[in-house]
Amino acid sequence: MVGLLGFVALAWRPAIPEVATPLPSSFSADLLARGATLASVGYCSTCHSVKGGQLFAGGYAMKSPFGTLYSTNITPDRETGIGAWSKDAFRRAMHEGVARDGSHLFPGFPYDHFTKISDDDVDAIYAFLMTQPAVHAPAHPNELMFPLGIRALQAGWKLLFFRSGRFEPSTDHDAQWNRGAYIAEALSHCSACHTPRNPLGAEWGGASRYTGASVDGWFAPAITAANPSPIPWTPDELRAYLFQGLSRFHGTPSGPMSPAAHGLTALSISDQDALVTYIASLRGGNAPPQAVADAITRALDVSAANTGRQIDPDARFYVEACASCHYNGRAGINPSRPDLALNSAVHLADSANLIRVILFGIDAPEGAGGVVMPAFGPGFSDAEVARIAAYLRRTRTNEPPWPNLEKTVGKIRAQGKGEG
Ligand code: HEC
Ligand code: HEC
Ligand code: HEC
Repeated sequence: MVGLLGFVALAWRPAIPEVATPLPSSFSADLLARGATLASVGYCSTCHSVKGGQLFAGGYAMKSPFGTLYSTNITPDRETGIGAWSKDAFRRAMHEGVARDGSHLFPGFPYDHFTKISDDDVDAIYAFLMTQPAVHAPAHPNELMFPLGIRALQAGWKLLFFRSGRFEPSTDHDAQWNRGAYIAEALSHCSACHTPRNPLGAEWGGASRYTGASVDGWFAPAITAANPSPIPWTPDELRAYLFQGLSRFHGTPSGPMSPAAHGLTALSISDQDALVTYIASLRGGNAPPQAVADAITRALDVSAANTGRQIDPDARFYVEACASCHYNGRAGINPSRPDLALNSAVHLADSANLIRVILFGIDAPEGAGGVVMPAFGPGFSDAEVARIAAYLRRTRTNEPPWPNLEKTVGKIRAQGKGEG
């Protein structure tokens, strides 16, 4: 009984009274422009909109082992959105994961990262959202496993895994690195996808950070020294991949990384440099130039071996299906559609990224503007997709073969491309 009362006391948060919706004219143009950038870099619209729906009106389904959670309406509609929320109520949601009415929010809303956003930046996001068109859109009921849907129980999760607090710069690093860390950790929550989670859905800390994790049927690769790309990431390639949507060695951001990269393009050049400085530091700095040169030579050798007459029927199949686009010249890497020897997708322990790209292709809005790859799912059987994947794995990497490929292809085909 005492324990229960204690828990109720722990879980209880007061409601914050409704206020009049602030007038757009009460915010300065500067503040609104900053809010728009911050919202883009925090991917608010990615999770708070559905394909073809109105921006920020919610309803986006987040599937997890615990069931499906739906994002809510964060437009300034008074009844179904956050139009009656004060600045303080909004700050409490972002920093503590508590809604205006006092109920606990689920950590599918990444408040464990947003808690690190400065008060000033949260206020700018508030101003930006309050000036968006109000949309009447009631929340979609969540489909979470009992008893996980009980909001008060989130207080227990918070006690175990959540520490509220603004970003604190590290004195071991310079201002640029700290700025990058703030963008990555507080706003862009890169680790929400790139860090594996414990059985209760919280990110592992310490040496596990950024070592790669499954997300929405994709695998977000390690972006530490454990990254599987044969060519180590350099600051230049990170810049090209994250902000131009195409790295000549590593390909294009697809799947859930595609909207993330689009969001980042709102960053100023100096903030882009800061983010790259921080992310590059996760893998212990620059790759030695020789390591890059050696990997390029190996990749060119693989493609050269593919230009003669093909005896291997798998190689012939690959040439017919893929090599019209993915090939290297003898003298250098094809900058926009390189041979796949260099891509993480063929080197990862998880085959999902490669299979998804083959089945569903790459749409124009993903990756670099206008870059597209056709979907092979409609034309190829599961066995044919598996055959190409197995062939690439066998000839382009030194990794062990993927087990049960054909079954995996069937499973991913049944899941479909998803919202991302
Ligand atoms: C990874 C997906 C994701 C991202 C990114 C995200 N949200 Fe959310 N957000 C959610 C989900 C899911 C909920 C609903 C949580 C719940 O019902 O407990 C939510 C709830 C909220 C709420 C509470 C609204 C209410 O009705 O109680 C606010 C405020 C909010 N988000 C603001 C933002 C802002 C601002 C950003 C961008 C800086 C953002 N969110 C980015 C998933 C996300
Ligand atoms: C919503 C989930 C999500 C978020 C947020 C996210 N990523 Fe990713 N990331 C992925 C996925 C999935 C992939 C694999 C995409 C592919 O294969 O095309 C990926 C790929 C990458 C890669 C390429 C790795 C490789 O070896 O090919 C880099 C680098 C990267 N992300 C950096 C970042 C950074 C930096 C941030 C934050 C600014 C970030 N990501 C935020 C999901 C995410
Ligand atoms: C009509 C041209 C075209 C064909 C044919 C094609 N691709 Fe692609 N593919 C592209 C483009 C463009 C990209 C994006 C640029 C990049 O990542 O290199 C891409 C990217 C990829 C990626 C990297 C995705 C990422 O997340 O970085 C993989 C893996 C891939 N293709 C596999 C294949 C396979 C396997 C085949 C044959 C079944 C194939 N492609 C056929 C054009 C094509």
